[in-house]
Amino acid sequence: MAVKLTWFSHASWSIETPNGTLLIDPFLTGNPAAPVKADDVKANFILVSHGHNDHLGDTVAIAKRTGATVISNFEIAAYCDKQGCEVHPLHIGGGHDFAFGRVKLTIAHHGSALPDGSYGGNPCGFLLTIGKTKIYDAADTGLFYDMKLIGDEKLDLALVPIGDNFTMGPDDAVRAAKLLRAQVLIPMHYNTFALIKQDAGAFASRVKKALPKTKVVVLKPGGTFEL
Ligand code: NI
Ligand code: MN
Repeated sequence: MAVKLTWFSHASWSIETPNGTLLIDPFLTGNPAAPVKADDVKANFILVSHGHNDHLGDTVAIAKRTGATVISNFEIAAYCDKQGCEVHPLHIGGGHDFAFGRVKLTIAHHGSALPDGSYGGNPCGFLLTIGKTKIYDAADTGLFYDMKLIGDEKLDLALVPIGDNFTMGPDDAVRAAKLLRAQVLIPMHYNTFALIKQDAGAFASRVKKALPKTKVVVLKPGGTFEL
């Protein structure tokens, strides 16, 4: 069973599974690094980590066009429901089995206000189980020691921010990599704007030195990774 990820830059992902396509944090409109337009993406499910516009992004428009179900915390699901989207609310620590696999919401240390200023609940990350494949998307967060517990899940892949300023920077992302112990790690949430410019190649070298068993894959926007 193959799972194919495409990086739409920033924290935006498409994950094609044998049982549907997921989008995560589809920030395409207004994203200078996005390789695709919101009108051109496919989705059966859209996962939203928090309410900030660089994550909620085009969720409502894509969900309405495609009929995709929005999966997020209770507050963001309620916000999208009010705008006419199909939704499935979850909350931190809770998981649910969907057609493509399981989604569990994990903690993230960040904010989550929605674009209209309303309360977006607690931000989250995602632990996805697709067939036998485990993927952790840390989303926007600072370093936290409970990443060790998430690492106990035996991750095939971890997606971690390295941009600094709004999230972990490279120093803490190296420490996160040590706690997560994933087979493969892909950095994200960098180089979208000047403020979060980072050298992902240098980060990859640092992880390689600290963790010989973890392979870092550096993608270009539009780049893909299969597992
Ligand atoms: Ni954010
Ligand atoms: Mn962000």
